[in-house]
Amino acid sequence: HKDLVGISSLAPWEILYLLDEAEQYVALNRQRHKHVDTLAGLTIINAFFENSTRTLLSFEIAGKRLGADVVNMHAATSSVKKGETLIDTATTLNAMRADAIVIRHASSGAVQLIADKVDCPVINAGDGRHEHPTQALLDALTMRHWMQGRIVPDGTKPLHEQGAGGFAGLKVVICGDILHSRVARSNILLLSALGAQIRVCAAPALMPAAMERMRVEPFNNFDAAIAGVDVVMMLRLQQERMAGSFIPSAGEYRALYGLTPERLALAAPHALVMHPGPMNRGVEIDSVVADMLGRSAITQQVEMGVAIRMACLDVLTRRARHVPGWRLPERD
Ligand code: CP
Repeated sequence: HKDLVGISSLAPWEILYLLDEAEQYVALNRQRHKHVDTLAGLTIINAFFENSTRTLLSFEIAGKRLGADVVNMHAATSSVKKGETLIDTATTLNAMRADAIVIRHASSGAVQLIADKVDCPVINAGDGRHEHPTQALLDALTMRHWMQGRIVPDGTKPLHEQGAGGFAGLKVVICGDILHSRVARSNILLLSALGAQIRVCAAPALMPAAMERMRVEPFNNFDAAIAGVDVVMMLRLQQERMAGSFIPSAGEYRALYGLTPERLALAAPHALVMHPGPMNRGVEIDSVVADMLGRSAITQQVEMGVAIRMACLDVLTRRARHVPGWRLPERD
């Protein structure tokens, strides 16, 4: 592949390859000196047409730690505000001879459109309701660390000592605004490719049709969905994509779909709590659960995000750097 637009284009072994490549960067990022010159001389443009804290900063940190020159383009202060089209913006970035472009956009499919117009690799940092592939990869790396006993819930044994060997058979519930969530979509694609058992839980109006076709089990009742699962992944209500829809009050939503300590007690005793952020505390997740030491992996997810984005930038620029050896193969 030239680009990373979605998990849908990755084979299971390619997903695992990217997770393996990220491990060297987890180790590097934990050292005092975090800088290597792998991407020295290359220019990376982060073009963000939607707000971001975690994804933008972690791509910027990732590029800088790999030695690249990193430039951020914020749509709010760009010529997009003067009416410039997406294609013209893409052509402009291409003419600047970037070596990789990272894009976030509110429209599903916008990233593929740009990828088809530019010569360099393009990485999807989230496009509309479509995909957020690096989020799913960082979530998988976090789960793998936990299964390897590297994130140990208080008072329990690491999961692998309890008999779970990997993603195959891992019971994961994803609860929240499934309809509007690119994080849910990328996680479903990745986790099902690796053999996990996935449940999704949402209010009926926030559940896409025909979820069974995606090899997931849909639930409208959170108490039923969470029973016995190994991993609980919470998502926020994406109010920016809900124009015209009924939006429940925070209290109403928490009562039915919030992750409270009482609900978490219905999951497996060792269950891990995840959330991609940003969180709405007291709505989809209570603070006492979000901050539960050894049980909540929310800060570990952010840490894994930098390592995963370093791995993606490294692997996707290997062709430009004439690095012999392994690369993601070309698409047909
Ligand atoms: N998880 C995530 O994409 O967060 P940001 O919107 O802050 O980048």
